[in-house]
Amino acid sequence: MNKPSFPLILKFLNLLLLLHATIFFSCSGTNNNSENENIGKNLFEQNCSLCHGNDGKLMAAGAPDLSVSVLDKDAALIAIEKGSPQKGMPAYANRFSKEDLLAIRDYIFELRKTK
Ligand code: HEC
Repeated sequence: MNKPSFPLILKFLNLLLLLHATIFFSCSGTNNNSENENIGKNLFEQNCSLCHGNDGKLMAAGAPDLSVSVLDKDAALIAIEKGSPQKGMPAYANRFSKEDLLAIRDYIFELRKTK
């Protein structure tokens, strides 16, 4: 009638399962990717929308429509880092970490998908 060891084992297995799930989710890359995309989106909307617009198409102050830009990933990163101060595009190399610059760069490629 008294079987104390069985539920204890179940509890232990449960804990083990939970631990595995936690480790699995904290290591999974998808989490990081969507976080990165959010960072890029937020930084873009806070710093770039003034001229480029949230959708990249505003074209204020002589800014080109980013949704139809043909720059490749490297060239886009350079455009953001060095800017084009004489033409009104600020240089952002010293304003953001490399990680944030890459997140912003990746985000502007998302804008090309919603032409
Ligand atoms: C004050 C206005 C302004 C702001 C703010 C601004 N830009 Fe620009 N951007 C421009 C202008 C003007 C150009 C065109 C420069 C040229 O013709 O050389 C440009 C060009 C670009 C280009 C090159 C596009 C192409 O196809 O040639 C990219 C990429 C870009 N901007 C991204 C960004 C990002 C990302 C941010 C925010 C971190 C940003 N810009 C903030 C005005 C701005």
